[in-house]
Amino acid sequence: MESVSCLWLLLLPLLRLSAAATADPCELDDEDVRCACNFTDPQPDWSSALQCVSALQVEIRGGGRSLEEFLSRVDPEADPRQYFDVIRALRVRRLTLGAARVPAPLLVGALRVLGFSRLKELTLEDLEVTGTAPPGLLGATGPELTTLSLRNVSWASGGAWLAELQQWLKPGLKVLNIAQAHSLAFSCDQVRIFSALTTLDLSDNPALGERGLISALCPHKFPALQSLALRNAGMQTPAGVCAALASAGVQPSHLDLSHNSLRATANPASSECVWPAKLSSLNLSSAGLKQVPKGLPAKLRVLDLSCNQLNRAPLPEELPTVGNLSLHGNPFLAPGAFEPQEDSENSGVVPACAHSSLAVGMSGTLALLQGARRFA
Ligand SMILES: *[C@@H]1O[C@H](CO)[C@@H](O)[C@H](O)[C@H]1NC(C)=O
Ligand SMILES: *[C@@H]1O[C@H](CO)[C@@H](O)[C@H](O)[C@H]1NC(C)=O
Ligand SMILES: *[C@@H]1O[C@H](CO)[C@@H](O)[C@H](O)[C@H]1NC(C)=O
Ligand SMILES: *[C@@H]1O[C@H](CO)[C@@H](O)[C@H](O)[C@H]1NC(C)=O
Repeated sequence: MESVSCLWLLLLPLLRLSAAATADPCELDDEDVRCACNFTDPQPDWSSALQCVSALQVEIRGGGRSLEEFLSRVDPEADPRQYFDVIRALRVRRLTLGAARVPAPLLVGALRVLGFSRLKELTLEDLEVTGTAPPGLLGATGPELTTLSLRNVSWASGGAWLAELQQWLKPGLKVLNIAQAHSLAFSCDQVRIFSALTTLDLSDNPALGERGLISALCPHKFPALQSLALRNAGMQTPAGVCAALASAGVQPSHLDLSHNSLRATANPASSECVWPAKLSSLNLSSAGLKQVPKGLPAKLRVLDLSCNQLNRAPLPEELPTVGNLSLHGNPFLAPGAFEPQEDSENSGVVPACAHSSLAVGMSGTLALLQGARRFA
């Protein structure tokens, strides 16, 4: 059993059991589906994590502690195959690791052992990754993930982190979500091609901006991209985003620019931009727009202009040819435009507009600090 609990401690031998019988830090639900541990106690009872062995979804939070002390116990030469049978038997498909300071070699050790698991979705949250990862071996040995999500993860290696992390994942990643990033200025020459990646979500990075987007979208590294989400990502004009997409050579069919403070006028330098030919759905909801932006694609299947500041109905010549247009939540539709309402065209209930549209889940000061750090 000891080696099983190792996985839940970033795959390391258990240190000690807490003498104090405090509240159980781990909870497994009755269906054996979800197990969550929150090790906030100064002397946590790590063995509590054993009950998570049967769960499909496991969340481990480290109470913000440093895991440096575990590092001395990692033998970089050790063969992770000794864990094969135990790790293979785990049911976990979705794993969240959060609230800790983790040395990069420890994280890599965890990924190597997870390479034997059937883990599909990995989330890293509120982590500070210190030091640098050892170089990846030929033929990546980590897990074969479909979805990788990061929120508020900082890396000592700065913009090199994506390439470093990628070396430890088997190819096949389909969805990559990166929110509250500390660096999105990737070292693109080291990033390998994400050949299966269809969804890239860079939402909740309010300091990114269009210039930052150009360095985040490593040219020709996302050939299969279908959906790009840039909610609350400091975008300024649709035309500026168009220019960034063109320079990166990405061809999404869905583009989400909602919850950005957008200006309607096109930047003269980028007004010539050619939108991706496949782009069929554009979301400009909650973008503070007083008029329909200029330079939109000529033809769209879906255009969402809901929850903006449009004071009059857009004229047909201002709009692209659109199959499915949303305009609810604009002042020209008042009274009651901001209440949930029946949309006559779609005859479905339309959700009310969110009140606070910008800087979702993040204080302005933090955003500024992150921006300053990122572009320093
Ligand atoms: C973990 O515990 C801390 C302290 O009790 C609490 O603030 C935090 O919200 C908890 N986290 C989760 C995900 O429950
Ligand atoms: C981000 O993560 C750090 C730990 O690395 C934590 O101290 C901080 O509170 C987190 N920030 C937010 C906004 O959750
Ligand atoms: C556009 O974005 C808003 C807010 O992010 C969301 O509520 C809405 O469903 C999206 N519209 C479409 C057509 O996906
Ligand atoms: C329009 O798009 C919205 C959001 O994607 C969808 O819920 C609705 O069914 C669509 N309406 C039509 C008529 O296609």
